[in-house]
Amino acid sequence: MQQDIERVLITEEQIREKIKELGAQISEDFRGKDLVVVGILKGAALFCADLFRAISIPAELDFMRITSYGAATKSTGVHRVLLDLDYTLEGRHVLIVEDIVDTGLTIKFLKEYLSQRGPASLSVAALLDKPSRRKVEVTIDYRGFEVPDFFVVGMGLDYAEKYRNLRDICILKPEIYKS
Ligand code: XMP
Ligand code: MG
Repeated sequence: MQQDIERVLITEEQIREKIKELGAQISEDFRGKDLVVVGILKGAALFCADLFRAISIPAELDFMRITSYGAATKSTGVHRVLLDLDYTLEGRHVLIVEDIVDTGLTIKFLKEYLSQRGPASLSVAALLDKPSRRKVEVTIDYRGFEVPDFFVVGMGLDYAEKYRNLRDICILKPEIYKS
C-alpha cells in the first residue's frame, strides 16, 4: 500500500488532534441535548468512530448508507438510501458525519432527506472539505481540514474500495488512478 502513495497531505497525528478539538466543541454545543450522531457509510466509518469517542456527553450512534449514481470518483447528485434510520428524529439533535464534502450534493440530499423527520436541529461534521469543487452551498458546522482539488484516500476514504486503512490522508501516484 505504502508504495502507491505519492504524498501525505494530512498526518495521523494532525487528524487525531483535530478530532479531539471537534469532539470537545460538539460536546460543549450539545450538552444537555438529545444528540444522535449519524455516520455515513462507508467513507465516514473510521472518522465517525474516532469522533464519537471524542464526544464526552451522552449520545446515540447510528449509520446510514447512501449511494450516488455515476462514475467512481464523481458525485452526480442522484442518491439512493441503502441503509436508513428506522425511527423518528422528532425533536432530536442530529449530527451528520461525513468523510469529505466535495460538490456538496450528498450533504444537500441528506439534509433534505433527514429534515423531513422533524429533528430539532441538523448539523454536519466533515473530516475534509474540498471547497474548490462545490456545486451547491452547504454549511459544515464541524470541519476538519480543507484539501486542494486532488482525489484523496485514507482514514476511511477509498479508491476502488482500497486504501481506507491508510492512517494518513494521502494522494496516490498518478499511475494508480489511471490503471
Ligand atoms: P459530494 O460531491 O456529494 O461528495 O460532496 C461526497 C462524496 O464523494 C466522495 N469523494 C471522495 N472520495 N476521495 C474519496 O475517497 C476524494 O477525494 C473524494 N471526493 C469526493 C466521497 O464518497 C464523499 O462522501
Ligand atoms: Mg462517501
